[in-house]
Amino acid sequence: MNRLNLTSQFTAMLTLRPFSANPNHSSLSSLSSLNALNPLPTFSSKTLHKPYHCHPTKSSSICVKSLLQYNRKPQLAGTTPRVVVITSGKGGVGKTTTTANISISLARHGFSVVAIDADVGLRNLDLLLGLENRVNYTAIEALNGDCRLDQALVRDKRWSNFELLCISKPRSKLPLGFGGKALIWLVDALKHRNEGCPDFMIIDCPAGIDAGFITAIAPANEAVLVTTPDITSLRDADRVTGLLECDGIKDIKMIVNRVRTDMIKGEDMMSVLDVQEMLGLALLGVIPEDTEVIRSTNRGYPLVLNKPPTLAGLAFEQAAWRLVEQDSMTAVMVEEQPKKRGFFSFFGG
Ligand SMILES: Nc1ncnc2c1ncn2[C@@H]1O[C@H](COP(=O)(O)OP(=O)(O)OP(=O)(O)O)[C@@H](O)[C@H]1O
Ligand SMILES: [Mg+2]
Repeated sequence: MNRLNLTSQFTAMLTLRPFSANPNHSSLSSLSSLNALNPLPTFSSKTLHKPYHCHPTKSSSICVKSLLQYNRKPQLAGTTPRVVVITSGKGGVGKTTTTANISISLARHGFSVVAIDADVGLRNLDLLLGLENRVNYTAIEALNGDCRLDQALVRDKRWSNFELLCISKPRSKLPLGFGGKALIWLVDALKHRNEGCPDFMIIDCPAGIDAGFITAIAPANEAVLVTTPDITSLRDADRVTGLLECDGIKDIKMIVNRVRTDMIKGEDMMSVLDVQEMLGLALLGVIPEDTEVIRSTNRGYPLVLNKPPTLAGLAFEQAAWRLVEQDSMTAVMVEEQPKKRGFFSFFGG
């Protein structure tokens, strides 16, 4: 099997062709304009100035064009505040990573953002953002009257328009009485602060579909479902989609995380197209498996701030962009003579 290194994965990922679902947003430009948006990192790759076309190989091929759109500020669609829950069902698929990177990306574009860590007891968004030493109070304490709400909000020194709100201290249990209504109250209080209503509130949801999940989705009016291309994650994502719809959340988009093009080529991993066909959700982004994600997690430095940017960082940037514009993408895969057709037929197939 033709094993691909990271560079070729990069190239192959870029052969995923993101089509703008919104005709007004189809004016995509090349990576050459990355530098135009300060403080986006510099990125020099001559070959990226034109769309990629990869030629079909004997086994399978993914034809990809990457068209990025960094030469203008994203146009905020919808009414503010946009309250977005990042959820998945299955644990460990990248919800917190997505929350951290998308939130910081939005803040860098100038939008005011409050990231809410609703993973009660197992919070780690503060760690990923490098803000763990600055969290003195939590939302629970604000609700108990032990502090003011603004004391529980941690303002990022790098981006003054970004704030973090943790619901509880690490290893604490979801307090009795703290549920969806309490979170709705908090979101409402954040809307009516003297500082003004934030553009985005991004809620990091805990894994599972129990009380923590029900609480986290309560104030949301849109959802980003993070999934990995494996059957357990997809089954959970399918279940969660149903629950979100029951809760009245109609705007659900998905991010497919930890995608490995070498495995897709070897037909050992589902393609993004397969995932999209199974879940039937609009695609917000495709994030490749990238060791830099783990490195950035451990450093408490979101990937989107990396210079030069990594492929996963760029993919998160693009996802944030689409979120702002309520846009989506379509992955197109061209496969020659698929060998294992039965592999993906787990949804009643
Ligand atoms: N694209 C990626 N490439 C490589 N590693 C990744 C990627 N996305 C996430 N990870 C790693 O996967 C692990 C789990 O990520 P994360 O904590 O964001 O998941 P989660 O869904 O929030 O988990 P939980 O359900 O426990 O809250 C982390 O170690 C993270 O660094
Ligand atoms: Mg998490």
